[in-house]
Amino acid sequence: MRMRTAHAAAMRYLISLCTALAAATIAGVFCSGCSAPLSAIPAPGSTAPAPRLSQLGLFEGELAAQRPRAGVVAYDVNASLYAGGAHKQRFVLAPPGARIAVNADRWQAPVGTYFVKTFSFPVDERNPQLGERLVETRFLIRTKNGFDAATYVWNDAQTDAFASPGDLDVPVSWLDAAGVRRDQRFHVPSAAQCAACHQGRALGWSSRQLDHRATYSDGSTDQIQHLLTLGVIDARPSAHAALVDPFGAAPLELRARSYLDANCGHCHGQGGSAEGTDLFWGFEHTGAGELPACRATRDVDGRDRVLVPGHPDQSEFLARMRSERPRVHMPRGPVQSLDQAGIALLSAWVSSLPSAVCTD
Ligand code: HEC
Ligand code: HEC
Repeated sequence: MRMRTAHAAAMRYLISLCTALAAATIAGVFCSGCSAPLSAIPAPGSTAPAPRLSQLGLFEGELAAQRPRAGVVAYDVNASLYAGGAHKQRFVLAPPGARIAVNADRWQAPVGTYFVKTFSFPVDERNPQLGERLVETRFLIRTKNGFDAATYVWNDAQTDAFASPGDLDVPVSWLDAAGVRRDQRFHVPSAAQCAACHQGRALGWSSRQLDHRATYSDGSTDQIQHLLTLGVIDARPSAHAALVDPFGAAPLELRARSYLDANCGHCHGQGGSAEGTDLFWGFEHTGAGELPACRATRDVDGRDRVLVPGHPDQSEFLARMRSERPRVHMPRGPVQSLDQAGIALLSAWVSSLPSAVCTD
């Protein structure tokens, strides 16, 4: 069979459509080249797959307390991506004697590094004393060629989590910050969905995400210093942008751009599955001169411009975030619940931009 020479961007677009379609789990679509189903991973230093989380030996004491054993380090990111209202705990374990190499922005983990992220829902968002219900613990392990991905789903008794092929919904129920009972389904992604966002990269391991302030066990208040002291990373990054908490106290523009970087930039950026759209949402692409202001796009609910400064109601990207239709909704992937706080933040930001009228 003769193949037409395709433009590289067009090829990437096809590949991104492949992962995007798989992510939307549209029945009957065959996605060649997508990753193998998720399965159990081995404990550090072993090769035998461990079907239960407890067998991985990463935590001490009662498993649900997620108390890291020596060498396993808890960390946090500046801007967390929205996951249906779930809370997250993150851990890293570098192999003995090796460190994560810090560079301009995306850091490089040595082969054998474990990245761990646990998703949970509070019993009552207003009262942390009541604890959390753990739902899922995800893994990325650095290999020679990229990353192995895995996920473990927690049992109701909260005594252990079990390796899962993913692509399933777990019912969750909690009281939110306003005291309203929320009943929803939490989606555990499939391998293709992990790949659609990750594309062989550890997404939070960048200067912009890890330059974070909190109080750490060694008394420091600077996460980069803390990771250096513990020997997880090899150096301080040079001058770099840092994201802020999208729902914190920083100026509106920084919060909006941090939100877009964390929730959209991994696909809409270099090496991302939406690279072919040429619509980039990373922090470095959302400065005043670079916004997709008035950019023409396929009509969504009567809006055909990606972003109309001063007019959130006319901006197509917000219409996509509000839409629950799988082929339209952004971020791409199963719609668990709309991120109302994120939509409100971005709407306030678009309103604050100098008002424009888009003409051809
Ligand atoms: C909607 C996009 C998306 C999907 C789907 C997704 N991830 Fe992620 N993941 C991210 C982003 C963005 C981060 C970095 C921010 C953070 O930690 O919250 C991340 C962080 C992680 C981390 C911490 C290390 C890192 O990359 O920074 C692990 C481990 C992880 N993901 C595993 C998985 C696995 C396994 C799957 C599939 C079962 C998966 N993820 C599906 C977007 C996604
Ligand atoms: C999991 C990957 C992924 C994530 C995350 C994601 N997108 Fe997309 N996006 C895509 C893909 C693939 C397309 C191209 C297919 C389409 O147009 O539906 C796309 C297309 C778009 C378009 C239309 C592009 C055009 O050509 O005009 C907009 C606007 C958009 N996304 C906005 C967003 C926003 C805003 C976010 C974050 C809230 C986001 N996306 C997050 C994958 C993603």
